[in-house]
Parts: sequence; structure tokens; C-alpha cells
Amino acid sequence: MSWQIRAERAEDGPLVERLLAESFGPGRFAKSAFRLREGVEAVANLGFVAIEEGELRGSVRFWPVLVGATAALLLGPLAVQQPQRGRGMGIDLMRRGIAEAQGSGWEVIILVGDEPYYSRVGFSRLTQRLRFPGPVDPARVLGLDLKQGTLAGLSGEVRRVKIDEPVCADGAGTA
Ligand SMILES: CC(C)(COP(=O)(O)OP(=O)(O)OC[C@H]1O[C@@H](n2cnc3c(N)ncnc32)[C@H](O)[C@@H]1OP(=O)(O)O)[C@@H](O)C(=O)NCCC(=O)NCCS
Repeated sequence: MSWQIRAERAEDGPLVERLLAESFGPGRFAKSAFRLREGVEAVANLGFVAIEEGELRGSVRFWPVLVGATAALLLGPLAVQQPQRGRGMGIDLMRRGIAEAQGSGWEVIILVGDEPYYSRVGFSRLTQRLRFPGPVDPARVLGLDLKQGTLAGLSGEVRRVKIDEPVCADGAGTA
């Protein structure tokens, strides 16, 4: 492994945006997960990039959401440059993000994605049904407990955080 995972910096923004455009295409704007992020900033200390040979080759970001009254993180987007895929960068980026999220007091992470991939870092399918803003295949709704028992207690609607109602890491919903 010759890359380095470091915190995303302001100047990485355009490169991350380019990577996301290349990885997801314009269809990304129609996804439920995008709607949850629209108009809301990513969690500042939870953006990470993979750097190799001076190049930005991968990125992960997390967004704050509300599930019912519970503050949660939404993992994604996660992307790795096409020629660099399959080397472990995606897993490495997620591990770093998950560790930092736990360290800063977040209690639970959810995402919409492929279970066979995300189970490698501990995600599992939710047994209860959450409501998303748009159609989502329930088999792709995954979660990871950072504080034991939080995931099982999640229920209701997954909502975008209101811009004037920031969600904090203390799990108490809104601050
Ligand atoms: C998904 C993505 C981030 C994975 O990054 P990566 O650096 O290639 O992943 P890793 O190298 O850490 O892991 C690769 C392993 O996971 C497997 N894998 C990758 N995507 C998978 C998927 N969707 N389902 C099941 N397994 C998957 C690979 O087959 C590989 O397996 P191996 O270790 O047995 O060879 C990358 O493929 C990508 O950018 N895709 C386009 C954007 C995207 O779909 N993002 C995810 C949705 S938010």
C-alpha cells in the first residue's frame, strides 16, 4: 500500500468534485442520498482523501442526517479513480472515516449501497424499514453501530438536516 489517507482540505474540493462526476455521472443528482445532502455541508472533520504520487485518487465524505429523532451519519459518496480500484483504497478510506466518526462521538452510520462490499467494514442490512426521500431498495439500506444498540433503535423517516438546525455528534438529534 503506497497511498496516504489524510483529511480533506479546502483546496481538494475541485478534485473531489471531478472524481465524483467521473465516478457517478449526472445520475447522482437524482438519487435519494443526494437529496439528503442537498443544501447541507458534509461533516467538516470527516472528509478524507487518498493521495498517491501527489495525486488525489480517492475520496469519502459523510453527511449528517436525522433518522426519526436520532442524529446519524450518511456515508458517501465514496469514490476511487477507476484505474486504482480493487487495491484497497475504498476500504482504507472508509476505515479511517469510521474511526474518526466514532472518535468524535457519532453513534450510528447508515448508507445505501451493496451489502457484499460494505459488510467488509462492518455494515449490515437493517431489519427495520426506514423511509427515504425517494425510492430506495430496502436490501441496500445498511447500517453500522458506533454505539451499541443505536442501529436497532432507528426508525421512521430519514430526513435532511435543516440548515438552521445543525445535528451534532452527541446523538441527541438537533443542537
Ligand atoms: C466502490 C468503490 C469506491 C470501491 O473502491 P475500491 O478502492 O475499488 O475498493 P477496494 O479496493 O477497497 O475493495 C475492492 C474489493 O471490493 C469488491 N467490490 C467493489 N465494489 C463492490 C460491490 N459493489 N459489491 C461487492 N464487492 C465489491 C471488489 O471486487 C474487490 O474485491 P477483492 O478484494 O476480493 O478483489 C469504487 O469501485 C468506485 O469508486 N466505484 C464508483 C463509485 C461508487 O459506486 N461508489 C460506491 C457508492 S457510494
